[in-house]
Amino acid sequence: MKLHSHMKSCLLLGAALLTACGDSAVDTPAEDTGPGYNLTLNMTEFMAHVLEPTADGMWRSAGWVMDEVDGYYELYPTDDEGWQRVENLAATIVEAGNALMLPGRAMPQPEWNTYSQAMSTVGLTAMQAARDQDEEAIFQAGAQLYSVCTACHQAFNPEILSRFAPGSLAD
Ligand code: HEC
Repeated sequence: MKLHSHMKSCLLLGAALLTACGDSAVDTPAEDTGPGYNLTLNMTEFMAHVLEPTADGMWRSAGWVMDEVDGYYELYPTDDEGWQRVENLAATIVEAGNALMLPGRAMPQPEWNTYSQAMSTVGLTAMQAARDQDEEAIFQAGAQLYSVCTACHQAFNPEILSRFAPGSLAD
């Protein structure tokens, strides 16, 4: 008898949830911004002010330095503090991948989320490399990051590829 009434309340709860789901599906527009995401930054601003400076900081610490005069030379963190900074930048890359997928910011094509998630995964790899203070691993992570940026640009805005070359990392 006790079991029975318990089951009944579950069923009622289930019905209430279904009702709630049904209601919100009706009330909620497709471009729900959830709990009030601040989407003021458009994609250009997000790239120019969030992602590019972060990635650039990582590349500069990952052996990816090109000098107009001396050509290519390697530059890696030399102390714990330097590696800590790289780990922080890598963590920001992880979260930037999430920020790209916010409702209202994400593009509808499934590739958008694939590239965004790949960027977060590379960020985690880079965090580990920084914790290990592993020069080879951070260089590889930097290369992977660059190919994720490039792949998404290729897919969504091939025009910007010309403005986004390894040489620009030296600026
Ligand atoms: C999920 C897709 C995606 C990923 C990943 C991505 N971008 Fe972009 N990026 C875009 C799109 C779309 C634009 C074009 C935005 C616009 O309309 O101006 C862009 C534009 C840019 C621009 C040009 C901004 C300007 O001033 O016009 C830069 C720089 C840039 N991205 C840097 C990066 C870097 C660095 C990475 C990797 C660390 C990266 N992006 C990863 C989608 C992506």
